[in-house]
Amino acid sequence: MWALSRKAGHRQAAMLGGMLLLAACSDQKEAKSPGTANDAHLIDTSDGANWAAFGRTYGEQHYSPLHEINENTVDRLGLAWFLDLPPGNSVTGPLAIDGTLYFAAGYSVVRAVDAATGRVLWTFDPKAAEAAGTRLRQGWGSRGIAWWNGLIFTGTQDGRLIAINAKTGAEVWSAQTLQEGDDRFISGPPRVFAGKVVIGHGGADSGATRGYVTAYDAASGRQLWRFWTVPGDPAKGFENPAMTMAAKTWSGKWWTHGGGGTVWNAITYDPDTDTLFLGTGNGAPWNRKIRSEDKGDNLFLSSIVALEGKSGRYKWHYQVNPGETWDYNASMDMQLADLTIDGKPRKVLMQAPKNGFFYVIDRITGKLISAQKITKVTWASHIDIATGRPVETPGARFPNGQPFELWPGNMGAHSWMPSAYSPRTRLVYIPVRDTASSIGDAGITAANWRFRPGNQPNIAVNLGVRPIADAQHNNKSRLLAWDPVLQRARWSLPTPGAWNGGIMATDGGLVFQGQADGAFNAYRDTDGKRLWQFAAGAPVLAPPISYRVKGLQYVTVLTGASTGATMNQQEIPFPIDYRTQARRVLTFRLDGKAQLPPSQVAAIEWPADPDFKADPVSAGRGAALFVHCMVCHGVGAVAVGAAPDLRASLVPRDAEAFKQIVQGGGLVSAGMPRFSELSDADLKDLRQYLRSEAAKARKTACGTSPTVQPRQPHCE
Ligand code: HEC
Repeated sequence: MWALSRKAGHRQAAMLGGMLLLAACSDQKEAKSPGTANDAHLIDTSDGANWAAFGRTYGEQHYSPLHEINENTVDRLGLAWFLDLPPGNSVTGPLAIDGTLYFAAGYSVVRAVDAATGRVLWTFDPKAAEAAGTRLRQGWGSRGIAWWNGLIFTGTQDGRLIAINAKTGAEVWSAQTLQEGDDRFISGPPRVFAGKVVIGHGGADSGATRGYVTAYDAASGRQLWRFWTVPGDPAKGFENPAMTMAAKTWSGKWWTHGGGGTVWNAITYDPDTDTLFLGTGNGAPWNRKIRSEDKGDNLFLSSIVALEGKSGRYKWHYQVNPGETWDYNASMDMQLADLTIDGKPRKVLMQAPKNGFFYVIDRITGKLISAQKITKVTWASHIDIATGRPVETPGARFPNGQPFELWPGNMGAHSWMPSAYSPRTRLVYIPVRDTASSIGDAGITAANWRFRPGNQPNIAVNLGVRPIADAQHNNKSRLLAWDPVLQRARWSLPTPGAWNGGIMATDGGLVFQGQADGAFNAYRDTDGKRLWQFAAGAPVLAPPISYRVKGLQYVTVLTGASTGATMNQQEIPFPIDYRTQARRVLTFRLDGKAQLPPSQVAAIEWPADPDFKADPVSAGRGAALFVHCMVCHGVGAVAVGAAPDLRASLVPRDAEAFKQIVQGGGLVSAGMPRFSELSDADLKDLRQYLRSEAAKARKTACGTSPTVQPRQPHCE
């Protein structure tokens, strides 16, 4: 999930680089037979009145079978209502059940809203930022929630899985899913299946983290099983035969590094075979030379792993990147579908992982059916269908440490913003990112590499050491309609910046997607013609949903930028200010007449700093320390919406205020983590760095060519 760049002689991380109250339920019948009644909302053929899971149903097609809003009516689509949200992450997928909309914004603050009117019914705040400690330093917030039988489930940054009464907003149960003092955290949506709820975690970029998922009884919160995705210390014995098998693909003392393989985002479920599919992440640390003596496939990193739902027992796996070493993940959303391939009906699982290929896998056997490139790929020439393995290119593993131009970059050709599959067109709609990273490991050896405690980046590679040679194709994005049977593009549209929004397809023949520049669009699913556009006045990156209330079809999406897509201004070249950007819930229906207030263009001021005395040595040390800060405050201290721009802040000028916030944790509840280990000298260097960057920004903004900042500077 991360990247580091070396710029002006220092390293910078670049984010280029997841019942007790049954009596209270009004529907007693549903309460007595939770299995069938709840499944009706979650099976892939359900009617679309509700959007009851992150990808609507178990198979996560992000597809709505509703069609009242269609090619012929979409020009009547208008805003029904909007709801302003407080600062914090708003890039999250909502749910809609029986006329109520639910979503988790900020650090898993869950709200229930009347879907027809926008009236807030209840708010549940788990106070996750306050509970998170150093886990807050990987400040993502929640990307989605789950529902089952009158309960809403949310995972929190500090690792709790919480069940909330969907009617009242009262906590029903809470389970701590992480281990005391570990570097894991939760940002992804929990998933519900067959009366159980399963949750993974992140943390393989910042901790000696060994990935796992845990399943709980949805009604009681009782732990049912845990599946580890990579093997642990052999001296302690392996948990199951799958781990014994996996351990044969690791070398050295991998367990001391954790290993990684976190399930931070994608999980789908096939009720017909009671199979749960996990998408696993990168290695911890990324570099296999450090992690596993540069040997072995390192199962189950960067894999799709199938488990039996009732027991959590391993069934099969398919590894997209054997011996992962590039921060490549198979953690991207997976769509389940029934396709006819070579004249035969196949039950498939489809995924566009980070590595630039699109995979179609037989979900019964786990065997690869086909894989083709959806973007420029330099690490492999192709995937060998017979063996199911990629054919890597020479140099891709940076054998002598020298930087390799990696396409797609470590942040991936596809991130967590979900794709959609339309059974109508039999196409997959993918938010593709055309990006590169320079990756190498000169100077990093197993002997000198040390794990850094406290949720700091721990990746064991150098990123950004060399500029990207093919710069003109870098940092772009597209909406791609992909035929999974023929494995080729049907159509493809450029989208602004290097990030674009999650996707929903509908039976109305429409594909909905938001853009980083503030447009929310509907395209014709067959040819990509844009049929409708709404100016949201804020980046739209979250996945849209659709549902029906009292016979009317609605579409809802949240706006706003936050950590994840917005760490690097190169990737989102639009003015997005933390304090003034609009974070909203937008809900549309035919003939909706609501209006947004005029959008505020962020006017960042660059107040003069006459007392500032340059000290490049101190500023250089501060720049190195800023690796702690850039996941939120941005690469090169250029913020892109996830946190305030510290160059424009007066706080760095005030030693006491700065200390109180950074070392003292004065703003923890607002999402600003505490860095108690930073010394007073460190704080001085950080302030020096920020003030020198502010001086540069001021010069650029107030000089003759304000090209760097598309903002309205205040220059007295
Ligand atoms: C997980 C995200 C995150 C990280 C990491 C982070 N911050 Fe922040 N920071 C925030 C947020 C969010 C705010 C705004 C809080 C508020 O609403 O006032 C903030 C506010 C601040 C402020 C106050 C700015 C002002 O004008 O009010 C300072 C100073 C600051 N951060 C410094 C740092 C430094 C230095 C680091 C690294 C050592 C750092 N932050 C790391 C999220 C983060």
